[in-house]
Amino acid sequence: MIKALRGMKDTLPPQSYKYNYFIENCTKIVKKYGFEFIETPILEETSLFKRSVGESSDIVGKEMYQFIDKGGNDVCLRPEGTAGVVRSFIENKMDRQGLKQKFFYYGPMFRYERPQKGRLRQFHQFGVESFGETSVLEDVSIIMMIKEILDFFAINYTLKLNSLGCHECMPSYKNGLVEKLEKIEGLCEDCKRRKLTNPIRVFDCKNENCQNLIKDLPRIKDALCDSCKSDFETLLSMLDELGVKYELDSNLVRGLDYYNKTAFEFVSTDLGAQNAVAGGGRYDRLVEFLDGKPTPAIGFAIGIERLLDMIETPKQTREGYYFGAMDEEAIKTLYKEANHYRKDHKVIVSYDKKSLKAHLKAADREMARYCVVIGENELKDGKLWVKDLVEKKELLVDFKG
Ligand code: HAM
Repeated sequence: MIKALRGMKDTLPPQSYKYNYFIENCTKIVKKYGFEFIETPILEETSLFKRSVGESSDIVGKEMYQFIDKGGNDVCLRPEGTAGVVRSFIENKMDRQGLKQKFFYYGPMFRYERPQKGRLRQFHQFGVESFGETSVLEDVSIIMMIKEILDFFAINYTLKLNSLGCHECMPSYKNGLVEKLEKIEGLCEDCKRRKLTNPIRVFDCKNENCQNLIKDLPRIKDALCDSCKSDFETLLSMLDELGVKYELDSNLVRGLDYYNKTAFEFVSTDLGAQNAVAGGGRYDRLVEFLDGKPTPAIGFAIGIERLLDMIETPKQTREGYYFGAMDEEAIKTLYKEANHYRKDHKVIVSYDKKSLKAHLKAADREMARYCVVIGENELKDGKLWVKDLVEKKELLVDFKG
């Protein structure tokens, strides 16, 4: 028997009802903030992710589904959504329009990680990317939007915040950090590599020994330039005024290299070890880095499976019609009658002759509101026998055809 690959799952009912319910309601919320749907390919050139997510990240370093296609191109399945949206933004010359542009997307992402609860190799994200806004009020809006989504689905969460500085303050901080890291003996192999590629990622190391060795090192939040400091203070004071609770986390550096300034994660205690339900931040230099016109940007993505694990399946209400025949002769007539109803309603037609009891049972299983049955007599009289499965009433209705 052929099975789905490790870390990859089918989305079947009732999980698929939850998935649709989530997408529908998230879409409604982000549209209120002016975001529009965008879809980019799942397969992209590998260099796109190397240049954006960064070669030092675990995602690019260890987890890409990368291969050479039949044309000899080095391609990979997208591990995240931001890079593709930025590529499209530049390729379609949206960076030249000088407009503020806001997009949302959802779909599968692929990371070759060790599967465990809440961690899949193919998972789904719902994300947004906002281009052209330098104002920190956009950071506030993005956070408010995620809060609205998580509140809608009654998720318990903690918002963790940090500022990662900018090209003014980050380089000198990083140089100082590397000097200090050089003097530390006993860092794990990953941290030794991070020291050379992106030193702030040492703060993200899960190794307890490394955490002990680096606990007294200065954090970026203490080295911010005036502009980063003032933006971060404005962000925090706006969140205070809007009643949004947060925790400052100077170890929050995110697993992708493109971030600057605001970085955030929403974590939930209702999840296991993989507790991040959403993450994001500013990436003001990425458009330029991928050869576009300098454009500030900010975005986030929610891990859909992780969120769905925390919500109940929405209650299904009875809907539409179930049509069934008790007589072989009546099936074609029934089929034509059902078609009239399908213009405005959900209609399920059984092609098998069955007893009234069996049809009523099937209509119930299909969650139909009405069970419509034709037998020999109804066929002769030109009538449909209809039972309202909510009001428990029965009636005869004339054929429409
Ligand atoms: P990320 O933090 O790598 O950010 O992923 C966002 C969310 O995707 C995580 O918080 C988590 O819920 C979910 N997720 C990540 N990996 C897995 C996995 N293996 N299995 C299940 N769920 C997972 C990004 O991807 C950025 N592109 C977000 C962003 C958009 N930043 C700016 N714009």
